[in-house]
Amino acid sequence: MDNETINFYDQNAEEYSKWRSNQGADLAQEIFLQNTISAGNIMDLGCGTGEKSLWFRDNGLTVKAVDASNQMLQFLKNIDGVKCSRMDINELSFEENFDGIWASFSVQHLELHEQNILFKKIPKMLKAGGIFYLGIHEGNQSYRDQLGRLYVPRAEKDLRSIFLSNNLSIFKFFREQSHSFDGDPIKVMHFFSRLNA
Ligand SMILES: C[S@@+](CC[C@H](N)C(=O)[O-])C[C@H]1O[C@@H](n2cnc3c(N)ncnc32)[C@H](O)[C@@H]1O
Repeated sequence: MDNETINFYDQNAEEYSKWRSNQGADLAQEIFLQNTISAGNIMDLGCGTGEKSLWFRDNGLTVKAVDASNQMLQFLKNIDGVKCSRMDINELSFEENFDGIWASFSVQHLELHEQNILFKKIPKMLKAGGIFYLGIHEGNQSYRDQLGRLYVPRAEKDLRSIFLSNNLSIFKFFREQSHSFDGDPIKVMHFFSRLNA
């Protein structure tokens, strides 16, 4: 876990929550919901202030939400239908199997080797036919942004090959031009994959 990144989120949780709430529901979460079995159980990996967790809960899914920032998680505490825990993504174990795993712009804060270890764990935490969504910045160089956050963006080609070697079939992919929390223009990719039976 990158402490400087988590400190940033701890100190800016309220502003982040406002920024994320103002964006409303997006295409990625609609696609994820449409492809996850109804009333299924999902994990929101690096849930932040939990806007997506709440939307999935409101749409019938049971949600386990994890994040390393205590302050981000304050927004999700004591909410029915969402079980939240403070956890470093790197410490994930395989005690539960999910119908879906949603990882929206959190994995990019892990070092490259940590990301690759995580991608190996994902199939072990999914039920057969379960869905894995990854939203991530596109690029091939890691950097620290002006707010102190570590970014380790990825190339489409590399992730396609990693998904394939981990038994995950990509059934939908799109990229878009977006803006980060600090207003910087960013290129992002959305991968939707299914664990092969
Ligand atoms: C850009 S925010 C995304 C939050 C949320 N998924 C969303 O789409 O709004 C990144 C989140 O990843 C979390 N995060 C970063 N590194 C993490 C780690 N190693 N373990 C758990 N959470 C982490 C941060 O605390 C932050 O809440």
